[in-house]
Amino acid sequence: MKKITARAHANIALIKYWGKRDSRLNLPAVGSLSLTLKALSTTTSVEFQEGLSEDSLSINGSDAGEKQTRRASRFLDLIRTDAGIQHGAIIDSTNNFPTGAGLASSASGFAALTVAAANAAGLNLSPSRLSELSRQGSGSAARSIFGGFVEMKLGEKADGSDSIAVPLHPAEHWPLAMLILITSEAEKPIGSTEGMNLTAETSPYYPAWVNTSPDDIAIAREAIAARDIEKLGEISEFSCFKMHGLAMSANPAIIYWNGLSVTLIHEIRRLRAQGIPAYVTMDAGPQVKVLTLPEYVEKLTGLLSEIEGIRQIINTEIGGDARILTE
Ligand code: DP6
Repeated sequence: MKKITARAHANIALIKYWGKRDSRLNLPAVGSLSLTLKALSTTTSVEFQEGLSEDSLSINGSDAGEKQTRRASRFLDLIRTDAGIQHGAIIDSTNNFPTGAGLASSASGFAALTVAAANAAGLNLSPSRLSELSRQGSGSAARSIFGGFVEMKLGEKADGSDSIAVPLHPAEHWPLAMLILITSEAEKPIGSTEGMNLTAETSPYYPAWVNTSPDDIAIAREAIAARDIEKLGEISEFSCFKMHGLAMSANPAIIYWNGLSVTLIHEIRRLRAQGIPAYVTMDAGPQVKVLTLPEYVEKLTGLLSEIEGIRQIINTEIGGDARILTE
């Protein structure tokens, strides 16, 4: 069987996914809306080999360890079932950004794995089906199948077939920029899967989170269609802080921020008060992401570079679809 290499970009949700309505199929409890990021990608090759009884996974050149390999293997089982094959696979995956630091490596990782594995198994699947499969690897990965502005549909079917991402607009619709401020490269204290499950079980605010999400998505969709940065930025911050407030209301509290994250949140709000369109979003980690317009990137980078402690600033535009690199 052929070895296939695929590349997928990470994505950042502006309207956040947090919570599941079904753990087995990994169905989200809320829809979400994201930007696919050009500068952050995972490149993965997959080769199913006859006679191989187990899968092997290497990430960034080293053996991935049991937990991650098992997660990838369980995912490959879905592809093996669809393709009617039994062999194990050799998986080789490389991120061009720090793994496990809240930079959505599971999103680009599972999207690249889905595209590479499906093709290596001889399946010719639609992007929607690839997104559905990817979701079962990681909810946010469903969105990384598509480039540009992407909406993850909540769906209502029990089999999850309508719980998939759909492309809203290509990257060219509206050039936006995102600055990713790396405040720490340490592994996060609690992963997103565990964090969202704890939140759903213990936060008294969880029902309100689920109920208010559709309005946020509708507003973000309108803002993107109208290319209205203020409207998009404000609703994105609202969704982000609602998600983090929700996580903090879990018992025990889940706090992803470090001191520098808080400093940066205040700094960005200060800069915005001075007329710079800059809006904060954060995921399950301490990195601060800033949504802005391309013409402000240089000025913002200069101003933010003066803040002590930032390890790295990654500047990215909006990226494209997940794709095969080799046949
Ligand atoms: C905070 O997609 O990592 O980044 O489905 O359990 O793998 P699993 O969760 P994951 O959660 C992402 C959470 C988030 C928000 C988002 O990307 O929408």
